[in-house]
Amino acid sequence: MAKKLRIDKVLSNLGYGSRADLKKYCKQGLVKVNGKTISNPGTQVDTEVDKIEFDNKEVKYREFIYLMMNKPDGYLSATFDKRDPIVLDLIDSSYLNFEPFPVGRLDKDTEGLLVLTNDGQLAHRVLSPKKHVPKTYYAKIDGVVTDEDIKAFEKGVTLDDGYETMPAQLKILKSDDLSEIELTIHEGKFHQVKRMFESVGKKVVYLKRLSIGKLILDESLNLGEYRELTDEEVKLIEER
Ligand code: URA
Repeated sequence: MAKKLRIDKVLSNLGYGSRADLKKYCKQGLVKVNGKTISNPGTQVDTEVDKIEFDNKEVKYREFIYLMMNKPDGYLSATFDKRDPIVLDLIDSSYLNFEPFPVGRLDKDTEGLLVLTNDGQLAHRVLSPKKHVPKTYYAKIDGVVTDEDIKAFEKGVTLDDGYETMPAQLKILKSDDLSEIELTIHEGKFHQVKRMFESVGKKVVYLKRLSIGKLILDESLNLGEYRELTDEEVKLIEER
């Protein structure tokens, strides 16, 4: 459906400057709609049909952004915190205009795939307990992980608060005093992976998320780096 918005709001959301800047730019004749110079920053535009230009360059309008981050240790998956660094501290201000937020939480010390978006509906669908979007983690475990653990996780384990987990798929990459595993879960309880291992008497000493749905972490991203998702990748987030 066509959506009419003020031109200064559209351009400021896209990172062209503050509303005050846009007022100035309109006066300077930098803003055109359908080839006509717009001096009134309150002019309403239809972002689906109107051709908007800034400084004679076409403006690509978009409502949503989707970012994939390789989250580093030490950052909270939050949009605000008084004390600790947050993942948004790592994001360029041109994206912050879109007011992105993390889709679900990783613990402060967990690394790996974090999706940030301003698409609330997508976030809701991905996080909905009914959708069972799978999430796969790589972890290092203090203790020998065994076939018994595979069976226990497949059956479901009881967490410290009495919650019975859904079947989860455990793959042992290395079974030793320090084991390495991959675990796929289909829900997202607080500290779920750590608490599942606690329930079998073992401790997660390193945790990294590898995938959400069919979206896999781009390993070329260093810790703390991020990039936009392609349209195809956005679809993969919800696929099972
Ligand atoms: N499970 C955890 O224990 N921690 C995370 O950050 C994600 C899943």
